[in-house]
Amino acid sequence: MKNFQLQAKILAQTRIKDNYWRCELSAPQIAKNALAGQFINIRVNDGLDPLLRRPLSIHGAGGSKIKIFYKVVGKATEILAQKKVGATLDILGPLGSGFTYSQPAARSPQPILVAGGMGVAPLIFLAEKLRGAKTIVLIGAKTKDQLLCAREFKKSGCAVKIATDDGSSGFKGRVSDLLKNLLSAPGPRPQPIYACGPKPMLRAVTDIANARGIPAQLSLEEHMSCGIGACLGCVVRTKDGLKRVCKEGPVFLAKDLTW
Ligand SMILES: Cc1cc2nc3c(=O)[nH]c(=O)nc-3n(C[C@H](O)[C@H](O)[C@H](O)COP(=O)(O)OP(=O)(O)OC[C@H]3O[C@@H](n4cnc5c(N)ncnc54)[C@H](O)[C@@H]3O)c2cc1C
Ligand code: FES
Repeated sequence: MKNFQLQAKILAQTRIKDNYWRCELSAPQIAKNALAGQFINIRVNDGLDPLLRRPLSIHGAGGSKIKIFYKVVGKATEILAQKKVGATLDILGPLGSGFTYSQPAARSPQPILVAGGMGVAPLIFLAEKLRGAKTIVLIGAKTKDQLLCAREFKKSGCAVKIATDDGSSGFKGRVSDLLKNLLSAPGPRPQPIYACGPKPMLRAVTDIANARGIPAQLSLEEHMSCGIGACLGCVVRTKDGLKRVCKEGPVFLAKDLTW
């Protein structure tokens, strides 16, 4: 798929809470071509530090705009959060593979999204694409205060179920245990599974999906250098050998991963 390098103007930059920010960018070519699950690679300044672009998922796209949703964790995201409306960012995208999803009529019986922490970022875009499919979304966080995007998922027509490690909201325990419970309930089994979140969560989702023969697509995060498939810095093990998260991924089938 073709990608574009743009000077994207910041149209909105909003602190959602704590270290979490949502940013809207003018990026017509990327907005037109983006698939849910793809990402952009951002250069946050013109200097040498930080030298490398940083990958951030496409959180939404429409008209000439795209959205990103990010957590400030280090230098690049800190610089990004200081950028004001009207500033421009050098961005490259859309990059990587997206999630695969069918047309509304063929959706059966019910897709499940599993989001841990910042894993909500690409899954909101997917939820929009799946609108009308009676999607169930399971959102996991350590505590109630750290839950993200529940309202946005509801707005996209999803049934939202929550898991918190401390039980301060919803199911007490891991979001993967909530998934297991849901799949054990009587009645038609919801599927396929789409998941994004921390590695231990994705491994648990892989085991749950594979043990039941349920198709699952996982969006992986690895440290990236080039972001365009050239340096092999982001490989993961699959049944077909090493694959690059930035090029063949970030979305992989659970049945293909050997971790
Ligand atoms: C395909 C992809 C999509 C992503 N989408 C999002 C998103 O939508 N929103 C978001 O907030 N973040 C996302 N990330 C992670 C994001 O790229 C990093 O948080 C960011 O690069 C950190 O840059 P920094 O300079 O602020 O922090 P750094 O100083 O580079 O890192 C700070 C800390 O974060 C860890 N870290 C950095 N990059 C990664 C990574 N790729 N995977 C795991 N840990 C990492 C470092 O080990 C370190 O502990 C995504 C990563 C990938 C690979
Ligand atoms: S980051 Fe260079 S190949 Fe993926």
